[in-house]
Amino acid sequence: MKLIITQPNDYHVHFRDGDMLKSVVPHTSGHFGKAIVMPNLVPPVVNAEMASAYKDRIMAAVGADVDFQPLMTLYLTEETTKEDIDLAAESGCVHAVKLYPAGATTNSQSGVRDVTKVYPILEHMAKRGLILCVHGEVTDHEIDIFDREAVFIEKILAPLREKIPDLKIVMEHITTKNGRDYVQQSTKNLAATITTHHLMINRNHMLVGGIKPHYYCLPIVKREEHRLALVEAAISADPRFFLGTDTAPHVDGHKENACGCAGVFNAMNTMSCLAEVFDEHDALDKLEAFAALNGDLYYGLPHNQKKMSLIKKEKAVVFPEKIQVADECVTVFDPVRPLYWNVEDVG
Ligand code: DOR
Ligand code: ZN
Repeated sequence: MKLIITQPNDYHVHFRDGDMLKSVVPHTSGHFGKAIVMPNLVPPVVNAEMASAYKDRIMAAVGADVDFQPLMTLYLTEETTKEDIDLAAESGCVHAVKLYPAGATTNSQSGVRDVTKVYPILEHMAKRGLILCVHGEVTDHEIDIFDREAVFIEKILAPLREKIPDLKIVMEHITTKNGRDYVQQSTKNLAATITTHHLMINRNHMLVGGIKPHYYCLPIVKREEHRLALVEAAISADPRFFLGTDTAPHVDGHKENACGCAGVFNAMNTMSCLAEVFDEHDALDKLEAFAALNGDLYYGLPHNQKKMSLIKKEKAVVFPEKIQVADECVTVFDPVRPLYWNVEDVG
């Protein structure tokens, strides 16, 4: 069986920098036409000049004959100025600004502690037409890690949207039925990305029969009912839901560790994983909307001209377990089940 779709985009990736960047970028640029690139480097990408220099480093890691467009983001801090926003809006390379609540995830220490402090900047972004991408979790110690997304919606996102209704927001990597329902109930200026791994695994996969550090990510994977809610959203063709893999590589030494890092490296097998999930739900005809079209519509970008063909094989496709990064390894996402779909061609 063969499926041909418009070449997809990844609306949420972490490329890192240096050797890691060089090793992981080709796995994204080989399949995807465009990618929204997260700014949580050390130090974070806080202005258009840094974004443009980072874009150049990414382009140097993309093969010479590959068409790929990194769409850059800025890291919002309590020091971000209106001038930073103006320069970003006029740069042509920055497409969104990312809000990390301080302490929520990898390299988020410089993020926002009190969101009301950045309201004037968010108002300015709305005027300049820059999108806000949010890591939607509260960081209060007393809030259970499995409830942090739901509490963020109630305590941070809902008041923010009421105060600044013209700001276009993407709730990144939603992981709960609450998140899905909140987006479905909104009438404007709200969309959500869904990751590959949150469509495939639940918290049992991470915790039963031994702890699996390579499934540890943030927001943390939830119960099966939440996974199913996300699958329903992804296969619905509702334009407010689109792919953001959140591919987030860390070397094995940082994952298999007494205090392991959050992140799943799924760039290599995402399209095979998605085709498997959509096929299982008789929704292969909705894969193009989710992975290639809906995000473009929300971000106001033209669709890719190229097509991707995927083929369903008789025998499961085998992906490498790890990739090499300098003298260390990064483990590839294990989708738990066999994958029969494979990307055959992009052109
Ligand atoms: O699992 C995650 N990894 N979630 C995030 O929010 C950040 C990411 C990373 O940068 O490692
Ligand atoms: Zn991320």
